[in-house]
Amino acid sequence: MSREHCSLTKVYRFSAGHRLHNKKFTPEENWEIFGKCTNELGHGHDYSVEVKVSGVICPETGMVINLGELNDLMNGIIEELDHKRLDIEVPFFRENQPSGELIVKYIWTRLEPKINKLDGAKLTHLKLWETPKNYFEYFENSQPQGVRRHGR
Ligand code: NI
Repeated sequence: MSREHCSLTKVYRFSAGHRLHNKKFTPEENWEIFGKCTNELGHGHDYSVEVKVSGVICPETGMVINLGELNDLMNGIIEELDHKRLDIEVPFFRENQPSGELIVKYIWTRLEPKINKLDGAKLTHLKLWETPKNYFEYFENSQPQGVRRHGR
């Protein structure tokens, strides 16, 4: 089993609007919990998302993942979000808060199965910058690689 572990990270950008608001809460509760982010007409962010993919280096291409293939996969997901009012136009965020936490999880949920179809490469980490001062990270624990040996 190879001990090699190489990763590459590519940055994608999109702009989107959102409003944090829960219909179950009173207007006062929404304001208390979400502050100005519950402003009725929403507000926007220029997001950037760092996509980290890991694997072994293919000896024929010298690559962990073909960046063109990663772009194809990510561009479809970015299109779903870019220049959208997330809580109105994207079905998932009509039912779930368009918070940074859930946006980064949403991107993972959309991207991970697509990457898994490619040979070898695995999505290992996502980082979503919402402002220059805050970001959200998401990953899921993967199965340990290789076979665990018992005894000696
Ligand atoms: Ni916001």
